[in-house]
Amino acid sequence: MKINWFPGHMRKSQRELLDMMPKVDVVIEVLDARLPQASSNPLLQELRGQRPCIKLLNKSDLADPQTTAAWVTCFEQQQGVRALPIEAKQRGEVDRIQKLCRKLVPKRGSKGRDIRALVVGIPNVGKSTLINTLIGRKIARVGDKPAITTCPQQVDLRNGIRLFDSPGLLWPNLQDHHGSQCLAASGAIGDNALDTIEVARFSAEFLCSRYPQRLQERYKLTALPLAGDELLEAIGRRRGCLISGGEVDPVRAAELLLHEMRGGKLGRISFEEPPGTGEIKAR
Ligand code: G4P
Repeated sequence: MKINWFPGHMRKSQRELLDMMPKVDVVIEVLDARLPQASSNPLLQELRGQRPCIKLLNKSDLADPQTTAAWVTCFEQQQGVRALPIEAKQRGEVDRIQKLCRKLVPKRGSKGRDIRALVVGIPNVGKSTLINTLIGRKIARVGDKPAITTCPQQVDLRNGIRLFDSPGLLWPNLQDHHGSQCLAASGAIGDNALDTIEVARFSAEFLCSRYPQRLQERYKLTALPLAGDELLEAIGRRRGCLISGGEVDPVRAAELLLHEMRGGKLGRISFEEPPGTGEIKAR
């Protein structure tokens, strides 16, 4: 899959993150619960050194709960790491993060000695949503767009916690082909950077192997062809994505599948399982 992306800023961003680290007590890494590996940046572990890290598995409302629980167990085996599945829009959920910050940095959190928490994550994982929920109102952030100069923003939560927001500093690892496909399928990469049909083909084949029943039920398919193109054709035909002459319009079929999958219409889906967990049964 060919993805047009912007790798040029990565080195500078990593330098900036490294420079920030001495001022940071705890790193809050926001991940997409559906693809915790592909939505992480492998360099972060190196950059954070010995600092404690909270891995937030955000968008857990869209992910397969059993797989998310397996990821939590997997992450918590790593030194200094705690993991929480969350839904960033839910106020009650984010309160748990603050409690965890206090637990991980017990020496700070009092007047004049705020806990300094750095919020990082690749674009689209839900950092802005999380920060707005933590603050209790919408704040303007420096964009995540690569061309915009990044400067860390500080937000005082007025409860002994100060957030360092770092828009635009982390990028996914697009060297990993499968990870890139998962990112594309989840919608984390803007569709205009991608070949929609290719992303939908991958998604259809993935769904067919992991969640075949849901695919069958949603699109009322009596049989499931294994090849992505044929699946898209069957879905498009079933949903009337046709062009003149009665042929299926592959772009409309692809867009329909991606839209419904990303919107949760095919149920809660996880694209990745933690390493070494073996097969988690398809449902
Ligand atoms: P970012 O700062 O990391 O780039 O991500 P941002 O908060 O902008 O969130 C990206 C998209 O993910 C937004 O959707 C946001 O609503 C959605 N999102 C964030 N957290 C959750 C969550 O826990 N569950 C679900 N289902 N979605 C979440 P959008 O369509 O781009 O924007 P909007 O139309 O919702 O404003």
